[in-house]
Amino acid sequence: MKRPIIHVALLIPLVWLCIELFILEVNDPVKYIYTLTGVIATIILFFSITISMIQKRINLMKYRRDIGLFGFFYALLHMVNFVIFDAQLDIVFIIEETLDKPFIYLGMISFFILLFMTITSTKRLYKKYVSYHRLVYIALLLITIHFVMAQKTINIDLFCYILIILVIAYYKLLQVIFKNNKL
Ligand code: HEM
Repeated sequence: MKRPIIHVALLIPLVWLCIELFILEVNDPVKYIYTLTGVIATIILFFSITISMIQKRINLMKYRRDIGLFGFFYALLHMVNFVIFDAQLDIVFIIEETLDKPFIYLGMISFFILLFMTITSTKRLYKKYVSYHRLVYIALLLITIHFVMAQKTINIDLFCYILIILVIAYYKLLQVIFKNNKL
């Protein structure tokens, strides 16, 4: 019952992206795709790790995989934007950018961690690789550094973002220390 509602809610940013690109025709589509897909993927992935913390109030544990997969989907669009629209499939440019700019290779590493988690999220593989799924915390740390480094100016949004992350990290730490819940 809740699943279709969750799917529709998670598709709203994609619909919004299409409206901005094809109807409102934003000035700099590549930049716009980076920002929207990057921010939405980050929000969804951070939300996915809070699900076990809020389960006594709202139980979304059943939908955690779907939510994580949508997070990966937006990260994939972000990466496709880099490879196809920004780099125009120029392999040399992709390699040079990745090696020259630390924030790009941090993004790449987090993307491959998310890819690994997506592939091993099926029922059969999850049982085998469940302990590796803690890598999501490394991915989120790298994503945060990637996001901060991508900013050209330091603004209030950045401080709000860091504050939210610290609050989530604090409660997650309490949850792990008291081991009263699943990670
Ligand atoms: C394949 C790996 C990745 C590449 C090549 C990449 C590339 C980029 C680039 C070039 C920007 C700067 C855009 C600009 O302002 O002009 C950016 C920003 C950003 N990226 Fe990534 N990224 C990658 C992975 C990720 C992942 C996995 C996430 C999150 C799940 C992410 C989240 C963000 C965020 C939130 C921003 C800031 C957007 C903004 O404020 O405008 N990136 N990325």
